[in-house]
Amino acid sequence: MNCKRISMAVCLFVVACGGEDPEPAAEPTAYKDMSFAERVVFMNDVVMPEMKEVFVAFDAKFEAMDCTTCHGQGVTDGTYAMPSAQIAPLPGTEEAFLEYVKDPEAARWSQFMFDEVMTRMAALLQVPTYNPETHAEGFSCSNCHTHTVEAP
Ligand code: HEC
Ligand code: HEC
Repeated sequence: MNCKRISMAVCLFVVACGGEDPEPAAEPTAYKDMSFAERVVFMNDVVMPEMKEVFVAFDAKFEAMDCTTCHGQGVTDGTYAMPSAQIAPLPGTEEAFLEYVKDPEAARWSQFMFDEVMTRMAALLQVPTYNPETHAEGFSCSNCHTHTVEAP
């Protein structure tokens, strides 16, 4: 074993890390405090694997899920802006939504979205879910879906 080579590698490693003693494990950064680059890493390492599991449990077609499933065009243009117009838009009023979920497939998807997708995603982002009384700005369907505009 070449000890000189090893200490050289350690030296390079320490220099690359700024020559400081390693800091004690810090609290993971909350999503809201992350830089854009940190958000990319977080989406790759945490959101994608967890949400894919959730979606695949509902429908095996989501084995092919990737960033585009949620971000659509935002992947191509690099903004990752949400909500995404490439996810099916939802009806824009309560009455229209109630009409929409009379269709059993729409109802089945909406139930899954409400029970699993919305809650898991909000938990990952460490934000409260929408509640008209306590968290009117909370995380909801509208963070991912756009809405079709309905005539009043
Ligand atoms: C299950 C849906 C979902 C998947 C899959 C997903 N994301 Fe996201 N992503 C979101 C949501 C929702 C937000 C927005 C959070 C907010 O601000 O409301 C977001 C935000 C982001 C942001 C921050 C955008 C900004 O303006 O700061 C980046 C960057 C990002 N995602 C990258 C990715 C990448 C890269 C992948 C694939 C590895 C990915 N996302 C997969 C749902 C998803
Ligand atoms: C984290 C992002 C996210 C949130 C939050 C979310 N959805 Fe979705 N939803 C999606 C994605 C992605 C798809 C598309 C899956 C695909 O490509 O088939 C989808 C699909 C659907 C569909 C099926 C549409 C169709 O015609 O195929 C319905 C219905 C739906 N969502 C309703 C809801 C409702 C209602 C809520 C709120 C309770 C909600 N979603 C919250 C991401 C989200």
